Amino acid sequence: MNKAIVLGVGPVDGLGGQLAVRFSASGHHVFVAGRTQASLDELSSVIEGSGGRATAVVTDATEELSIVNLLEAVDSEKGALTLAIYNAGNNTPGRIIEMDADYFESSWRVLCFGGFLFGREALRRMQGSGGTLLFTGASASMRGRAGFAAFNSGKSALRILAQAMAKEYGPDGIHVGHVVIDGPIGGEKIRKAFPEYAEKLGDAGMISINGIVDAFDYLYRQPRNAWSFEVDVRTSIEEW
Ligand SMILES: NC(=O)c1ccc[n+]([C@@H]2O[C@H](COP(=O)([O-])OP(=O)(O)OC[C@H]3O[C@@H](n4cnc5c(N)ncnc54)[C@H](OP(=O)(O)O)[C@@H]3O)[C@@H](O)[C@H]2O)c1
Repeated sequence: MNKAIVLGVGPVDGLGGQLAVRFSASGHHVFVAGRTQASLDELSSVIEGSGGRATAVVTDATEELSIVNLLEAVDSEKGALTLAIYNAGNNTPGRIIEMDADYFESSWRVLCFGGFLFGREALRRMQGSGGTLLFTGASASMRGRAGFAAFNSGKSALRILAQAMAKEYGPDGIHVGHVVIDGPIGGEKIRKAFPEYAEKLGDAGMISINGIVDAFDYLYRQPRNAWSFEVDVRTSIEEW
């Protein structure tokens, strides 16, 4: 059984959760990683209940040792690591002149630095055998916006890091890709935290999780002589 890792897993009906469900259904032993044991356990039992294989590994994407431990846990199970997804990243709004240096740095650590640590460890494992390494982006990956400097700078740096990885390791058969999610995701997070906003947007104004997962799956399935680096996904009514 091939192995896949999703780092940045929260609720089952969130993007990280549904990426794990999809790649488990396509036959992977999925390692689900995030900071909250209870969320990981819930997702693992959903996957195992559908006949899949999941292993929960509590991981903080901003800590080098934590990511090294995650990859060592993956190494200790049989199978080839064919897919690694870096999905961690929270929105960090705030105006620049009022922003603490710690806030900016911790935003960068999860948005970009963790992507470096995770990418480095995954690339080390995939050298020689090939594999796919995918990163989750946002509108912030593509443009700066007033009130979101910490988020924009971290996400855009992650995108260029991913592009450098794609160029450095493509010749070794490692497909590195990036998915730009250009708008709000129609998942549990927005529906629970901002129910009025979610209702106002409606299904037409929020990006379908299933559609986003299709974009990851598309990149994963591309043949070695027809790779894309990036896919962007938005609703038909998004202004961009
Ligand atoms: N939500 C949106 O509308 C939206 C729009 C565009 C792009 N995105 C991007 O899509 C991705 C998924 O975001 P989502 O908010 O929708 O959530 P999600 O995929 O449902 O879950 C992501 C999970 O990552 C975990 N995480 C956060 N910081 C972490 C860290 N330091 N180490 C390990 N795990 C961490 C969090 O769980 P724990 O707190 O339990 O660790 C969080 O629930 C993110 O990269 C985000 O920037 C989201």
